Amino acid sequence: MFTITTVYDNYRYKGNLNVAHGFSCFIEEENLLFDTGGDGEILLKNMENVGIDPKDIKRIVISHADWDHIGGLFDLLDLNPDVDVYGMRAFPSKTLKEMKERSNLILVDSFSPIVSDIYSTGPLGTFIKEQSLAIKTRKGFLIVSGCAHPHISTIIESVSREGDVFGAMGGFHSVNKRDLDSLKDLSFLAPSHCTDSMDEIRSAYPETFQENGVGRSFSFE
Ligand SMILES: [Fe+2]
Repeated sequence: MFTITTVYDNYRYKGNLNVAHGFSCFIEEENLLFDTGGDGEILLKNMENVGIDPKDIKRIVISHADWDHIGGLFDLLDLNPDVDVYGMRAFPSKTLKEMKERSNLILVDSFSPIVSDIYSTGPLGTFIKEQSLAIKTRKGFLIVSGCAHPHISTIIESVSREGDVFGAMGGFHSVNKRDLDSLKDLSFLAPSHCTDSMDEIRSAYPETFQENGVGRSFSFE
């Protein structure tokens, strides 16, 4: 079972958690944090409010090195340096150097396992390389995207080569016709963060659309 809680987002789902531009979510069972939002103070406060102890985090996957995804990383590493951090060679060399000095840095080059049934897609896209999570559930893969710069349709297509995809959540960025169509066969959609066509997705797929935002948890078997 996987329980995923959004801890940093542009949208609020519940409570008095801080809303800010950026994305981060936590997978409880594997103590895995995906992205770290834009600001360490906000991230740590939100984590505290939902009961996540930074010292429990064992692994952090950074989707790409834009500030709204990596911004909270080093504040977190101040509190817990004993973490495996999954980055990519496409990150700026200065960032990689600091990551290497302050954590156990692992570079992801292709679709590969992070832990048990959680995989990284490896770097996708051309202009901004980005990795997403592909979580193997009983229903198929759940994709968790940071910003989806490579386009959500491309990410879905790539993970589909590994097995059926049943859902997607996180930032879907700019959603074109091809992206919107690619969501048609999914049974779970929880876009958030930088998704620019939220209303369009909601009205195209009212039965599968789920409101996402900071404080929202989803569980999957
Ligand atoms: Fe972003």
